[in-house]
Amino acid sequence: MVTRIILTASLLSILTSSCDKDESSFAGVPQPSNFPQPIYDFSQNPVSEAGFALGKKIFYDPLLSRDTTIACADCHISYAAFSHPDHATSHGIDNLFGRRNALPIQNMIWKTGFFWDGGVPHLDLVPLNAIKSPVEMDEDPARVLEKLRAHPEYPGMFKEAFGTEEITTANLRSIRAASR
Ligand code: HEC
Repeated sequence: MVTRIILTASLLSILTSSCDKDESSFAGVPQPSNFPQPIYDFSQNPVSEAGFALGKKIFYDPLLSRDTTIACADCHISYAAFSHPDHATSHGIDNLFGRRNALPIQNMIWKTGFFWDGGVPHLDLVPLNAIKSPVEMDEDPARVLEKLRAHPEYPGMFKEAFGTEEITTANLRSIRAASR
């Protein structure tokens, strides 16, 4: 469960940072007056400044990949609306290419289906696909948790974001649900 929360926090971080010209400040999740209410249920994963900082750090951290070479931000590049320009298909671990190119990341909280075919039904499941994909990050989510626990900064950041330093075992059901 914690894996889902922190990785979704990383997506929410992008959302909040891209809404604010000063990338270092926390803007929350502004509701544009001409947009409908978000589909994403924030009651299950409230946005906080500490969660924003944690999610942003994780998004740019290659520690999530098997050999610590690929970060989310390598395929979702901030200067290109979090897409992967100059690539016909996305370029991941061991110089492997996937079947599709990375989608830009924006307005995620208003979407009901994710990926080019809309086949992933919930935002929380999306990042686990990238971690487990053999052509993207090729890592076991349980090992991601181990690496986060052993890291000098993450336990403290978890405490600030969730009130506990404990980085718990991933919810197996959500990991299975993310496997395609
Ligand atoms: C190796 C490249 C690569 C990496 C690394 C990667 N992604 Fe992606 N991402 C993709 C591709 C390709 C797609 C489209 C997949 C599809 O349609 O089958 C995608 C789709 C997405 C989407 C769905 C967007 C939409 O509109 O449906 C989100 C959100 C996302 N990625 C977030 C992340 C996060 C968070 C991470 C890090 C945990 C990450 N990605 C790591 C390549 C990557």
